[in-house]
Amino acid sequence: MSADPARLEVRALNKTFGSVQVLTDVELTVAAGEVHGLAGQNGSGKSTLIKILTGLYPPDPGADYHVDGRAMRLPVRWPEVHAAGISVVHQDLGLLDQLTVAENICIGGFPTSRVLGRIDRNRRDRLATRTLERLGVELDPATLVASLNAPERAEIAIARAMRDHAPGGGLIILDESTRALSGDDLTRIHTMLRRITADGSAALLISHNLAELMAVTDRLTILRDGRLAGAGLRTADLSEEEAKAKKAQEELRNAYKETPREPGRRSELMPILPPPASTPVLADGQEVGFITRSAFSPAMNAPIAFAYLRREKSAPGTALETSFGSGAPIALPIAR
Ligand SMILES: Nc1ncnc2c1ncn2[C@@H]1O[C@H](COP(=O)(O)OP(=O)(O)OP(=O)(O)O)[C@@H](O)[C@H]1O
Ligand SMILES: [Mg+2]
Repeated sequence: MSADPARLEVRALNKTFGSVQVLTDVELTVAAGEVHGLAGQNGSGKSTLIKILTGLYPPDPGADYHVDGRAMRLPVRWPEVHAAGISVVHQDLGLLDQLTVAENICIGGFPTSRVLGRIDRNRRDRLATRTLERLGVELDPATLVASLNAPERAEIAIARAMRDHAPGGGLIILDESTRALSGDDLTRIHTMLRRITADGSAALLISHNLAELMAVTDRLTILRDGRLAGAGLRTADLSEEEAKAKKAQEELRNAYKETPREPGRRSELMPILPPPASTPVLADGQEVGFITRSAFSPAMNAPIAFAYLRREKSAPGTALETSFGSGAPIALPIAR
């Protein structure tokens, strides 16, 4: 582990709206130079987390928030977060069609002339050009944004967010900003993110599109119902199926809360994937799990059986019931 502090680190994050707890003990660590993914289904709390990190909502007391090792006073205020090097691109990108590329890049940070306080057009255009060059975006700063296509629009929104970042510093957060893109257009934005992070800047990519996150991120944090279902998992270690299974596991965990634990026996929930096609026969001493129920998993778009495991050595040669019955426990070999 490197001794360098994380670009962003938040711990013990809770958020309650009225009586509804939306985030529970969430943590997130984004390292310098990485593309970090934040995954989770609709309503899992992704945007709420970002809104707290950027000062739009106060968190419940007790949270801990550091940027580049520096403690942020909670609740944070946007100017402090921005000064610490954090920027956000929202889903709607926030572009003004009737303005030029240069004007859009400089929104919220127009260089003004010292004498009259007027917008200094030359400095503005230089700032825009410099930002575009740094990001490898080949667009004329004088072009009207209305005439741009979808990936170009995303590039301009990202350029605006990166405008004030020190080279190699900062963290750009994209909250579902790539939702309108697919195929080559999406790849183009991913290439841009790779370029941004290659020199040490960090990116946090929020998406409900697991395939996208698997393709571009270095690590993944997964939220489920406002709780961590995975914290900083290395993407390379996860196949997409495993990530889906993890989400599905969280999905079903609550549904099986009431399943009684047998005293003295270690029990755990475990996905069994895929359901075996033929009736397996137990080898000598094979471990089995006992399925108490099966269910349809929206995350996997497939039926999935969850075993409440009893680690038992079973008699060799026992044929197993594999149909997903309701009620009576059935046994299946566990896919590890
Ligand atoms: N201001 C608010 N007041 C009350 N509840 C809220 C508020 N903002 C969000 N919520 C609730 O918090 C939960 C998490 O919402 P949030 O928008 O953070 O989810 P999300 O993961 O970003 O979802 P999506 O994928 O749809 O963008 C939801 O149940 C939502 O209804
Ligand atoms: Mg959201």
